[in-house]
Amino acid sequence: MWFEILVSLIIGVLTFWCYRYYYYYSYLKVIPSPRAWPIIGSGLEFKNPEDSVETMLVLMNKFKTDSLRIHIGFRAIVMSRDYKFIEFLLSSQTIMNKGLGYKFFTPWLGQGLLVSTGEHWRTHRKMITPTFHFQILEQFIDVFHSNGTILIDKLRKHLGESSFDVFPYITLCALDIICETAMGISINAQLEEHSEYATCVSNMGRIIQTRGFNPFLHYDSIYKHSNLYREEQKCLQVLHGRTDSVIQMRRENILLEGSKKEKPAETDELGRKKKVPFLDMLLQASIDGRPLTNTEIRDEVSTFMFGGHDTTAAGISFALHSLANNPRVQDKAYQELKEIFGDDKERPCTYNDLQCMKYLELVIKETLRLYPSAPFYTRTAVEDFTYDGITYPKNMTIGILAYGIHRDPRYFPNPLEFRPERFSPENYDGRKPFSFIPFSAGPRNCVGQKFASMEMLSTLSRILRNFELLPATPKHTLKVAADTILRSANGMKIALVERKSK
Ligand code: HEM
Repeated sequence: MWFEILVSLIIGVLTFWCYRYYYYYSYLKVIPSPRAWPIIGSGLEFKNPEDSVETMLVLMNKFKTDSLRIHIGFRAIVMSRDYKFIEFLLSSQTIMNKGLGYKFFTPWLGQGLLVSTGEHWRTHRKMITPTFHFQILEQFIDVFHSNGTILIDKLRKHLGESSFDVFPYITLCALDIICETAMGISINAQLEEHSEYATCVSNMGRIIQTRGFNPFLHYDSIYKHSNLYREEQKCLQVLHGRTDSVIQMRRENILLEGSKKEKPAETDELGRKKKVPFLDMLLQASIDGRPLTNTEIRDEVSTFMFGGHDTTAAGISFALHSLANNPRVQDKAYQELKEIFGDDKERPCTYNDLQCMKYLELVIKETLRLYPSAPFYTRTAVEDFTYDGITYPKNMTIGILAYGIHRDPRYFPNPLEFRPERFSPENYDGRKPFSFIPFSAGPRNCVGQKFASMEMLSTLSRILRNFELLPATPKHTLKVAADTILRSANGMKIALVERKSK
C-alpha cells in the first residue's frame, strides 16, 4: 500500500516536472542552460548558493551567452547581463512587477514600495518620491554625524590590531541612522551590546535568504510547518510591534501639536533644527485626499528599514576594504578631504561639504560597480512578451544581473581593477547608462539613492579624516557572496592607524 502511494507520488512529481520543464523549454530553448534534473533542476551547478552570482558568470562565459536559463525546482528563470535586454526591461512601463523571491519579504514589508505592484505601487511611489527631496535630506546630515561619532569611538578600539572585521560596526551604525531618520527614534544598536530590534532585523535577512535558497520552503503550506517560520513570527512581533507603537505615539504627538495654539518649536533642546523623520511625513501625506492607514505606513517604514541599512552598510564596508588595499586612491581621497576640512577631524559635514567630495564620490561609484549591494534584481510580466525573437511566458522571473554587466570588459576595461578615475567626467561619457545600475534604473529605480550617497559620503569621510586604512595582515582576500545583499563570506578585514596630519 505505502509502496504504491510512494511510486504514484514519484511518478506524479516526475510527470509534473517534465510538463513544467518542457513548458519553459518550448518558449526559451534558444537560451543556453546548464543541465536540469528532475526536482533539483540546475541545482548541481549551484551547490553553494552563496556563490550563485559568480557561478552564473562562469556559466555565461562557458556558453558564450549574455542570458542564461536556470531551472529551480519546477520553475525556470532567465538571468541576463545583456545590455539591450536590460535597457528594454528597466525602461519598460509594463514589465514592472517583481519576480520570484520578493514574496518572501512580504511578511515583513507587506505592500511596501519594494514589493508592491500596479496602482498601489504607482500612488505610493508618487507620494513617497518628494520625501527624498534634497532639502529634506539635508536635515539628516546631523544624524549621520552623531552616529558617525559613536562609530569612530568604536573603531578606535581596534587601533594597532593587525586585522579586524569592519562590517559589523558599519552595519550597526547604518541601522541606527535609518531608525532615526525613518522613525525618529534611537534604538542604540551601536551602544547596546544586544539590541533586540537589531538582532531581529539581522535574523529576518537570514530567514528570507534561507527560505529563498530552499525550493521546498517556497511553498507556504510547507514553510508554515518549519522552525524558520516560527522564528520569523517571533522576529515580526518585535519589529512590527516597535513600528506600530512608534506610529501610534507620533500620531498622538501630531494631534497634540495641532491642537496647541502656539506654533511647535523649530529647534530641539540643544538648539538644533528639529528633524522630521520619514514616518511623520507619511503621517501627514495623503493619497487622493485619504490619509494613509497605519498598516500602509508600517509597510513603507519597514521597507526603508530593510532597503536602507544593509545596502549602505555593504557599500561603505566594501569601499573601506578597497581603500585600505589601494593606497594611491586612499591618499587622493584624503587630500581632497584635507582641502575641505584642513586638519579638523571633528567639524560636522555640511551639505555643501558633501557636494565638494568629488573624488570620494567616484570611489563610491567604483565600489558599487565592483560590489553592487543588490547584485541582481528581477522582474515578471503579467502577459507573455516577445523580445529579440524570443517569447517570455507571463509570470516568469527574469533577473537583471547588475554584478555581471558591471564586470563586463566591453563596458569597463580591466573590470577587476579598482580605478575610480574611470567614472571621472573626462573618462566616462554616460552613453551606456544601463551598464552601471547599482541603484537600478527606470520607473522602479531606488528611491533612496540620494540618501544613500549622502550617508556613504558622510560616513566614509568621517572615517578617513580620523584613520589611515591599511590592508589586514595576513592579507585578506574578499570572498564575495550573494544573499539578500552582496557581502563577503569571510568578513571585510582591514587595519587602522590614527591619522597624522601630513
Ligand atoms: C547603497 C545603497 C543602496 C543600493 C545599492 C540600493 C539599490 C536598490 C536597487 C537595485 C533597487 C531596485 C530593486 C528592484 O528592482 O527590485 C532599490 C529599490 C529601492 N530602494 Fe534602494 N538601495 C540603496 C539604499 C536605499 C536607501 C537608503 C533606501 C531608503 C532609505 C532605499 C529604498 C529603496 C526603495 C523603497 C526601493 C523600491 C523602489 C520602488 O520599487 O519603487 N534604498 N534599491
